[in-house]
Amino acid sequence: MSIEGKTVIVTGGTSGIGEGCVRHFAELGAKVVAASNQEEAGRKLEQELQAQGRDMRFLFCDVSQEQSVQELVARTLEWHDRIDCLHSNAGVWRQGRVTDFTDEDWDLLMGVNVKGNFYLAKHVVPVMERQGHGVIVITTSVAVHVGFPAHALYCASKAALDALIRCLTTDHAGSVRVVGICPGTIDTPMLAASCAGWDQPKEVIYAEVEQKIPVRRLGQPLDVAKAAAFLMSDDASYISGTSLVLDGGTLVLPPW
Ligand SMILES: NC(=O)c1ccc[n+]([C@@H]2O[C@H](COP(=O)([O-])OP(=O)(O)OC[C@H]3O[C@@H](n4cnc5c(N)ncnc54)[C@H](O)[C@@H]3O)[C@@H](O)[C@H]2O)c1
Repeated sequence: MSIEGKTVIVTGGTSGIGEGCVRHFAELGAKVVAASNQEEAGRKLEQELQAQGRDMRFLFCDVSQEQSVQELVARTLEWHDRIDCLHSNAGVWRQGRVTDFTDEDWDLLMGVNVKGNFYLAKHVVPVMERQGHGVIVITTSVAVHVGFPAHALYCASKAALDALIRCLTTDHAGSVRVVGICPGTIDTPMLAASCAGWDQPKEVIYAEVEQKIPVRRLGQPLDVAKAAAFLMSDDASYISGTSLVLDGGTLVLPPW
C-alpha cells in the first residue's frame, strides 16, 4: 500500500479532507504538492510539515481557472519531474433548490466542482500518458446517489464527476487509472458550514446524525486519506472507472 516517493498533487489540500490527505500522504513518504485558493493556510501547513522533515510544498491554485491549473502542473514538473498521482478534491458547497439558484451560484459550483476537474484532467493526463502511468482520484460525494433536499446544484455537479471518471477511464486506458472517492458525512469545515441556519448547535446535530450512521460516528479526513492512499498505490492496480463509497454504511439504509 505504498505511495512512498510518489509525486502527489492534492487540490483543496489546505482544509478538511484535502488537508487530512496532505498530512497522511506526506507521512507515508510521498512528495506532496498541496494546491488551493487558501494562501495563508497553505503557507502555514507547508511550514509545519517541512519542519517535520516532510516533502510538501504549497502552491496557490484556483482550479476554476485554466491558467492557474497549467501553472500547478508546470511547477510540479519543475520540482519533481513527474506526476504519479492527482487527488482532485477541491470543491464548494451551496444549498438551494432549482428555484433558488442564481447564475453566480451556478458559475461557482460548476466552475469549481466540474470545470476544475476537467481542467485538471486536461493538463495532468498528457503528463501521465507520457510517463506511461498515473492515477487520478476524484472526490465526489454520496450526493451523486441521493436527492438531498435543497441540494440540486451540488448533487448535479458531483454527478457530473461520476461520468467524468468513466470517460477518463475509457479514453486514457492503458496509462491512467481513474477512481472516485465518494464520502458521506465527514467532519470538516464544509460540514460545519452546512449546519449554519439550523435551530440547534452543530454538536447536537452531529450527535443526532451519528446515531443514524450504521458505524455510529462521523467520518474523519483521515478515513478518506487512508482510502485514497490505497487507491493510489500499486496494490489497487486493478481498480479503475469506479468509486469507493466511504459513508459508514449510510447509503444502504432503507428510506423509511
Ligand atoms: N465534508 C463532507 O461531508 C463531504 C462529503 C462528500 C463530499 N465532500 C467533498 O470533499 C471535498 C473536500 O471537502 P471538505 O469537506 O474537506 O471541504 P472544505 O471546505 O474543508 O475544503 C475545501 C477545499 O477546497 C478548496 N477550494 C475551494 N474552491 C477552490 C478553488 N476554486 N480552487 C482551489 N481550491 C479550492 C478550499 O480552499 C479548501 O481547501 C469537496 O469536493 C466536497 O464536495 C465532502
